[in-house]
Amino acid sequence: MFRARLAEDAALVRACLLDALPRSGPMADPMAYAVTGGKGLRGFLVIEGARMLGIEPDGACYPAAAVEAIHAYSLVHDDLPAMDDDDLRRGQPTLHRKWDEATAILVGDALQSLAFELVTRAEVGPAEVRVTLARTLAEAAGARGMVLGQALDIAAESAAEPLTLDEIIALQAGKTGALIRWSATAGAFLAGENPDPLRRYGEALGLAFQIADDVLDVEGDAGKVGKAVGKDAEAGKATFVSLLGLAAAKTRAAELVDEACEALVPYGSDADTLREAARFVIARDA
Ligand code: IPE
Ligand code: IPE
Ligand code: MG
Ligand code: MG
Ligand code: MG
Repeated sequence: MFRARLAEDAALVRACLLDALPRSGPMADPMAYAVTGGKGLRGFLVIEGARMLGIEPDGACYPAAAVEAIHAYSLVHDDLPAMDDDDLRRGQPTLHRKWDEATAILVGDALQSLAFELVTRAEVGPAEVRVTLARTLAEAAGARGMVLGQALDIAAESAAEPLTLDEIIALQAGKTGALIRWSATAGAFLAGENPDPLRRYGEALGLAFQIADDVLDVEGDAGKVGKAVGKDAEAGKATFVSLLGLAAAKTRAAELVDEACEALVPYGSDADTLREAARFVIARDA
């Protein structure tokens, strides 16, 4: 039931994204490749957060597509030799492997620009809502959000001392947390509602999501996760697992899922789909 809803929303968001891409020229195929094959969790959070607050998916699909475009760009760049140097993503060769590094850099650049085109489309709603979405998405994606987290992640590989728990939380709140938190709150911005409960939900969910990603890097099956496993320890990445060990990391992720669900109390049973998303985040095998 939950997985069917996730797949349905992901298909809707991907269609919106594919429709906005260039149809021909050198960027068409690699951009389409970059936005294909993911779970679509961030777009799903936008659609379902909005739906819970009475906004139909046809308005929400543009901000949903926008965050999936930023996420896809972040993965294309994350996989580059200068960053995590990965050959496999979503079960396929990474973009710079299938094309080349220049194309991968440009696809990331173009997806980031596309995100702001999408989030400011007239269909999204009144101008103030579009400005709020664009500004908050820029903050989440940039040097105080995802890019900051990525910079801390790379710096930690060569740090003299292991990071503390607080430093790892700050790193993960940026690299993964910022876009997930934005995705969870976008529906509130669209509906003109107080975003605080959804922000708390997104905060806990983002951290739980990244812990699960780190656990999958240790315990996952590369065939299922669609990317290489065992790379974080090899690269000296700072993760909850590297600091606390697997068992304590899993316990922390489960506590965070409870925190995420508690934040949804104000919405009662209307938030059941978002509760299922929180449980999915740590139960997933991909
Ligand atoms: C992977 O994110 C990268 C992280 C931020 C941990 P996802 O696991 O959501 O990737 P896709 O989009 O489903 O491939
Ligand atoms: C990636 O984190 C986060 C972003 C792309 C912003 P990871 O490096 O852990 O993601 P995977 O494991 O390669 O998907
Ligand atoms: Mg990385
Ligand atoms: Mg990586
Ligand atoms: Mg990872």
